[in-house]
Amino acid sequence: MSQKKPVVIVSRKLPEAVETRMMELFNARLNPDDVAMDRAALIAAAVDADVLVPTVTDVIDREIIASANPNMRLIANFGAGVDHIDLPAARERGITVTNTPGVLTDDTADMTMALILATPRRLAEGERCVRAGAWRGWTPTSMMGHRITGKRLGILGMGRIGQAVARRARAFGLSIHYHNRARLPREIEGALEATWWPELEQMLPRVDFLSVNCPLNEATRHILSAERLALLKPDSYVVNTARGEIIDEDALASLLESGRLAGAGLDVYEEEPTINPRLLGLENVVLLPHMSSSTIEGRVAMGERVIINIRTFIDGHTPPDRVLEGLI
Ligand code: 8YV
Repeated sequence: MSQKKPVVIVSRKLPEAVETRMMELFNARLNPDDVAMDRAALIAAAVDADVLVPTVTDVIDREIIASANPNMRLIANFGAGVDHIDLPAARERGITVTNTPGVLTDDTADMTMALILATPRRLAEGERCVRAGAWRGWTPTSMMGHRITGKRLGILGMGRIGQAVARRARAFGLSIHYHNRARLPREIEGALEATWWPELEQMLPRVDFLSVNCPLNEATRHILSAERLALLKPDSYVVNTARGEIIDEDALASLLESGRLAGAGLDVYEEEPTINPRLLGLENVVLLPHMSSSTIEGRVAMGERVIINIRTFIDGHTPPDRVLEGLI
């Protein structure tokens, strides 16, 4: 990369503090209108950029990577998940990919916990009832939900976010079960009093809540298939703050419609921003607009990670958040 300020193309509007610093440090091209770049715009950006800063809404596939300027050596993703970037294609072109892990762990875990509480306790349904003017006053049997304390939470994906969910859930009296490629170190498992299930099929029938906290990759796409979802107890709840494609959404909708699953709290979907119309019709589903990590503090911290990754890379060092294929 040349000694001139690198051309850094940012695909979406970022917090002002982040954009200001990027303008100071780089030859930054911002997106003040925040209109998502279409394919042609992404290809044009790859042609012009030394560094591309995409977000989850930009699909950076093999073709876009192939069209990249030979000077483009870094894709500094604004976000932790990199499932929208073709990592093998980037590696083949010698392009480094970085992400922003760690800084959105607590925010995402908070919202996961919020959904774990909101879904069985019918929070959104109650709010809709009040706003619709449909509340006729307290009765002993109105709006009965299900208790959280004393139940079992199964966590699919026990990385940073999964562990942060576990810590919160313990304070609510949930016992922790998890399925993860690798077992946690014994001291962490012990501190969380967590039970590891080497096979997902072993865990699913035993839990009252299932929280999806794994990254999306070829191993986890539709890992919650119709067959596996059917292993869940009919009075259990599913919460997903990771990626929609991890769950077979149609199969989930069928189970919810037929009462073979008690409810779901979803922040992510298979075809964002389109919501499966079958889910929209269900009272026992809490639907959020992919907002789990959306705090002002978190977004600024994500921008700082992006800047640190770009600066370190330009200075000739390995950026701290380099994404290694196979570890995602
Ligand atoms: C971010 C996320 O808001 O970081 C991620 O992977 O899913 C979100 O919480 C988004 O990715 C920003 O690009």
